[in-house]
Amino acid sequence: MSSNRGNFSSRIGFILAAAGSAVGLGNIWRFPYLAGQNGGAAFLMIYLICIFLLCFPVMVGEIAIGRAAGSDAMGSYTKLGNKRWGYLGLFGILAGVFILSFYNVVAGWAFGYFLEISFGGLLAEPDFGSFFGSYVNDISDNLWFSLGFMVITALIVSRGIQKGVEAANKIMMPSLYVILVLLIIYSLTLPNAIEGLKFYLIPELSEINAQTIFDGLKQAFFSLSLGMGALITYGSYVNKQQNVVSSAAVISIADSSVAFLSGLMVFPLVFSQNMSPTEGPALVFMVLPEVFSDMGPILGRVVGGGFFLLLCFAALTSTISLLEVPTTYLVDQKKLKRTSVVWGLALLIFVLGLPSMMSQGMIPTLNSLPFYQGRDFLTFIADMCDLTLTVGGCLMCVFITYQWNIKNMDNELAIGNAGYMNSFLRTYLSYTIRFVCPILLGILSILIIIDKFF
Ligand code: PFF
Repeated sequence: MSSNRGNFSSRIGFILAAAGSAVGLGNIWRFPYLAGQNGGAAFLMIYLICIFLLCFPVMVGEIAIGRAAGSDAMGSYTKLGNKRWGYLGLFGILAGVFILSFYNVVAGWAFGYFLEISFGGLLAEPDFGSFFGSYVNDISDNLWFSLGFMVITALIVSRGIQKGVEAANKIMMPSLYVILVLLIIYSLTLPNAIEGLKFYLIPELSEINAQTIFDGLKQAFFSLSLGMGALITYGSYVNKQQNVVSSAAVISIADSSVAFLSGLMVFPLVFSQNMSPTEGPALVFMVLPEVFSDMGPILGRVVGGGFFLLLCFAALTSTISLLEVPTTYLVDQKKLKRTSVVWGLALLIFVLGLPSMMSQGMIPTLNSLPFYQGRDFLTFIADMCDLTLTVGGCLMCVFITYQWNIKNMDNELAIGNAGYMNSFLRTYLSYTIRFVCPILLGILSILIIIDKFF
């Protein structure tokens, strides 16, 4: 099947696309605020341990499944397992659709902020907290910006794997690193930056508690785009000469380095203004504009615009992968035309995102769900998606252990990697996939349910 569905043209093309999927709002928006709320350096430490202990093996497993089967998420589980396992793939595809529905709303905010800071008067606002509050309530801005974001995503995905997904990532990923490094250099020159660095880099072990571990693990999983078949899908476009294990290592390092670097940029900025890092989801939308506005009208536009452009690039490389997952499914399984599938899905997902968009104050019931401890609909969907990812990752490990067989995974990984069979990594992956990951991910999933519903 793989021959006529297209492939990534090169190893670097695949790595950039998968790293693009991983690097997203999760790294630049969610990671700094979770780190800010969970003691800074302590959170960073837990996050990095989770990435290498749990996420790296799951990533290798997903890519191996995709490449071995050469099909979409549902097709791959069906082919290597059976029809019933195929539903696990379908479950992941649906999770991707829901993630994209709310993700696109937040991406729309970032897009709007980029335009309003670079070309509008946002930095002259007297109060950024109330500005954000009214901004997320402004139906027309929200509609246009998130529609715009979805249209750009669909335009890229409709061009196919090489000309769309790979080409866009090849431009955006390096640009993202350049913008990030420039912003870090700037933020480190600010007064009091050192206090931000201390908060972020010197761990207070007493800050580590169940919540830190829980948030670190959840964030690591979301950040690497695991558990919903995104990497099965991308893996299905990888050719057999590639070394999957080393590619997965590069992707994990690329992703965690962007999260690490965004902390390195955000905390010196926040501390330079004597602000609190514990602001939560509003951190980059409420606190950072304050910082940019203090830089003066011209520098503020450049640095602030640069920051939100970075956020848009990161979000776009992820929305591309989120739309690619159901697209590949419909093209592979239902034999539909890529362009029609992409535009149909984009419209559907945009509409599915409307309740999330309107849950920030526009519609009071959506703003405070009675069955969800009064939290808003966007938070509800985002939390449910976190849960499906950890459940999906756990079940993927069960699939490899009991259905596909770890030996088949080893054989797949040995293709393109001559020394694999006798390596330490093989032993490591075999233990983590069979024991460590399913057990810890299973426990985490149960904890998420208890935390959110009881
Ligand atoms: N990894 C992305 C981020 O950190 O923003 C989010 C994401 C993308 C999750 C794609 C899952 C996915 F399949």
